[in-house]
Amino acid sequence: MKNILKYKPLTKSAFISVIFFAVCLVLASFIPQQSEWKAPESAKNIKNPIPANAASIAAGKAIYIKECLECHGKKGLGNGPNSATLDKSPESFNTLKVKNQTDGELFWKIKEGRKPMPSTKKSLTDEQRWQVLNYIRTFSK
Ligand code: HEC
Repeated sequence: MKNILKYKPLTKSAFISVIFFAVCLVLASFIPQQSEWKAPESAKNIKNPIPANAASIAAGKAIYIKECLECHGKKGLGNGPNSATLDKSPESFNTLKVKNQTDGELFWKIKEGRKPMPSTKKSLTDEQRWQVLNYIRTFSK
């Protein structure tokens, strides 16, 4: 009984370790989650109903200039005038990572957005999202 009640103080170095660990935990919670952005399986097979013809690409270009160029850049390289101010700058559309995604996956990403990229749920219609997708596909051709 006597032994249990006896208070054994932490050594100084153990105490410092505990404080250090606690501070690390707090700091870690501020690191933003930057795992790879993956569209859900169900998005893969959504078919693009808008043919990639001159008219839809032109319409997509106009949307792109207005809504996307500031971050993604004139040629889709991810170096738009606003890109340097973002926590995370966009990657080039001309990468295998983007090329290997289906229209459905990219459509889903354009619709949902992911910080700092805004969602287009309110700003664009489905048709406009397909048009802008048809336009950004021209960067990797
Ligand atoms: C405020 C800056 C910003 C704007 C505006 C913006 N984006 Fe993005 N976009 C990003 C960033 C940053 C990423 C990377 C996000 C990530 O990986 O977490 C991204 C990612 C993407 C991706 C996914 C690429 C991949 O690697 O899978 C697509 C597609 C895309 N954007 C299209 C668009 C389109 C189309 C528009 C206009 C309608 C647009 N974006 C507007 C910043 C922006």
